[in-house]
Amino acid sequence: MAERPDRNLALELARVTEAAALSAARLVGRGDKNAADRAAVDAMRHMLDTIEMDGTVIIGEGEKDDAPMLHNGERIGTGTPPVVDIAVDPLEGTTLTAHGQPNALAVIALAEQGTMFDPGPAMYMEKLATDQEAAHAIDIERPLEDNLRDVAQAKGKRVGELTVVILDRPRHAEAMRTIREAGARIRLISDGDVAGAIAAARPESPIDLLYGIGGTPEGVLAAAAIRCLGGQICGRLWARDDAELAAIREFGHDPEGVLTRTDLVRGSDVFFAATGVTDGDFLQGVRYHRGGATTESMVMRSRSGTVRIIQSRHNREKLAQYTGERYFASMAAPTPLS
Ligand code: FBP
Repeated sequence: MAERPDRNLALELARVTEAAALSAARLVGRGDKNAADRAAVDAMRHMLDTIEMDGTVIIGEGEKDDAPMLHNGERIGTGTPPVVDIAVDPLEGTTLTAHGQPNALAVIALAEQGTMFDPGPAMYMEKLATDQEAAHAIDIERPLEDNLRDVAQAKGKRVGELTVVILDRPRHAEAMRTIREAGARIRLISDGDVAGAIAAARPESPIDLLYGIGGTPEGVLAAAAIRCLGGQICGRLWARDDAELAAIREFGHDPEGVLTRTDLVRGSDVFFAATGVTDGDFLQGVRYHRGGATTESMVMRSRSGTVRIIQSRHNREKLAQYTGERYFASMAAPTPLS
């Protein structure tokens, strides 16, 4: 049944990720990843409270005691409907930001209440992600070389023409050997597998596949993006030791179970926004100019399938007059290190 287009929350979320990116961007290359993360969290929290919604943070900065803001379970927004689950990563790529490296993002996703996967104690998951064309060809339960062959076939390429993005970690040594022996090409990234998953899922991207073990929260955020973009992510929880395995079981998750994009985000109306902090594969980072800065954001909704790239020009003086010191401070030049 046709419906009238309704409110697209993702457009409002763009202001939230813009604020976080503007705030964190002051600290690009300054070697302090915690300060950059704090700046992003603070700005994101401030803007989130302006949004008319009754949201609960499912994927946040961690447990209440460690994370004073945006902790898991925290209620966000004005408290009026819609009632939603929220996943945030105010700064995805804290080290990328601290080192001035590409692909650091401010990220947020929203979906109907009770539809986001709660990782609980599962810190890590094994992930495979690709675009719409090859969505049917990936299966985390099959050997990696079979996935490479089937993805290549689905895309009408040779295996040697595939590019696989993978986090540069010792735990991936065997997978890297397998990928190389199959003849595929590798893009090693030091951090930021949400950007890696989005790059793999974008139809126009030179990246064909993301593989590897990365954060479970990042897996949920990537799934939200892929619900909007098309494509597939499938994964499995990955425990670092027996104690973590037991904790995952006790929480009620099946450590052997396969998680697809709809297991990670079940909702039928998923909203996603990300703003570039540093320049990246699909978004420009924050750029300063006389009187302000520009940001670039990816803004998407699963129900409509609309993907927007929004370029915004922020006027420092007007923002200072209008919103006062709080927002202005997020755009001011950083103070020199003492
Ligand atoms: P941070 O932004 O919290 O530093 O995380 C970056 C990241 O690279 C994620 O993109 C990835 O999922 C995870 O860390 C990998 O974890 P680890 O660095 O422990 O291998």
